[in-house]
Amino acid sequence: MIDARVFLPSRFRTTGTASSVSIGGVGPCVIPAFSVHAPNRTELRYAVGFKACALPLGNNPFWVILARPNTGKEIELKSLSENRVGKKHKPTSTVGRGRAVKTVMSDVPSEYKDDFVSVFLGDSAELCENWPEPTVIVSDGGYGVLGFEGDTSDHLDLPDWYEPHVAAWSRKATPTTTLWFWNSEIGWAAVHPVLEKHGWRYMNANIWNKGKGHIAGNVNTQRIRRFPVVSEVCVQYVFEARIDGLVLKEWLLREWKRTGLPLRKANEACGVADAAVRKYLDQGHLWYFPPPEMFVRLQEYANAHGDPSGRPYFSIDGKRPGTVEEWAAMRSKFRCPHGYTNVWDRPALRSEERFKLNGDSGRAIHLNQKPLDLMTMIIKASSDEGDVVWEPFGGLFSACVAARRLGRYSYGAEIDPTYFHYAIHRLTEESRQYPLL
Ligand SMILES: C[S@@+](CC[C@H](N)C(=O)[O-])C[C@H]1O[C@@H](n2cnc3c(N)ncnc32)[C@H](O)[C@@H]1O
Repeated sequence: MIDARVFLPSRFRTTGTASSVSIGGVGPCVIPAFSVHAPNRTELRYAVGFKACALPLGNNPFWVILARPNTGKEIELKSLSENRVGKKHKPTSTVGRGRAVKTVMSDVPSEYKDDFVSVFLGDSAELCENWPEPTVIVSDGGYGVLGFEGDTSDHLDLPDWYEPHVAAWSRKATPTTTLWFWNSEIGWAAVHPVLEKHGWRYMNANIWNKGKGHIAGNVNTQRIRRFPVVSEVCVQYVFEARIDGLVLKEWLLREWKRTGLPLRKANEACGVADAAVRKYLDQGHLWYFPPPEMFVRLQEYANAHGDPSGRPYFSIDGKRPGTVEEWAAMRSKFRCPHGYTNVWDRPALRSEERFKLNGDSGRAIHLNQKPLDLMTMIIKASSDEGDVVWEPFGGLFSACVAARRLGRYSYGAEIDPTYFHYAIHRLTEESRQYPLL
């Protein structure tokens, strides 16, 4: 029997004995991609044109179950040596791929903790159930470019890849939670419906423009037949607050209508010419969240002048009128740093910014490591000291590092033991360099 570490995403189970392993819970179109690590450093690459899963089977080193992407049915069972594993997959974007450092398999601790950071080895869709409610979630997961072991080979598979994660986030999110969703443009477009379905409201698409230096004239545009890509997106979502099953915009109007008062009286309530009706009670894109003091004015007016039989109005718990504090907690935090727009001009990570270990001859450990300054900016904009930040797809845990420096508590996971091993070095170094009181 092989000493293999298999991390199956939570929605899949292995069943049966080692010689008759099958995958349970597979959806109609997707067989999961996941990493298998063996002591002999065998690397599983994903088979071209198929979704591949590897399982230790009997005395064979590894067997790969290949399944047609569109049916999810098992069609072949082959050993690694016979099948097409190892063939180069044609990437669809410029996001990094592959692992540049030597693989670490054994003796990787399953967690790292200090006063501010708690990170775990394993599947974040499962692990995050035990984390405290997040003020911020920084997602930098699959891009559909085989960017790491387990990434899908195109954006079409990303919705299924993300769904269990998004569902898990939604179970723990509150109306104050902001999600920063990093991806390629097409990756985000593919996942957006999943995010909406699970209650995430789109706020803004921010473009990370890495600039022309990112391609340095090296792209053959005649071959790729498009403009060279030098951007990624970091999309801001908030968790849609609901009262009585209604989103806030609908609930505000419903509450006002319940009073029996004409709409224009809402302007009088707020002491404005027409802003209350035009903004707070609008049902279109002009709607915006009434500042807490305006909410209280609407609420006081409605309870004083509205139909007495329907009181209380604008009550968040259905029993008493809502307070400023309760209303303020119905939306996420946001402070825009001075002079910033939704285009972030910032070169790709320079060599000296990359986390490296002595002995790795200056090689980048994780090709997807994100700039600390951008992570710092988004966390600072959407949380306060002492808040909780999640980083479900840790890599080298750049968001946790940024959060720690900002005095936020962070929780993260990384499924790949090699990356987790190096990440622990980074976090340990960080805690020595930046001891926090
Ligand atoms: C794009 S990288 C993140 C890089 C990170 N932002 C950084 O700055 O270092 C995505 C990482 O998520 C990990 N990953 C993929 N699926 C995961 C899962 N289900 N749970 C935890 N980590 C996962 C991958 O192994 C990979 O290292």
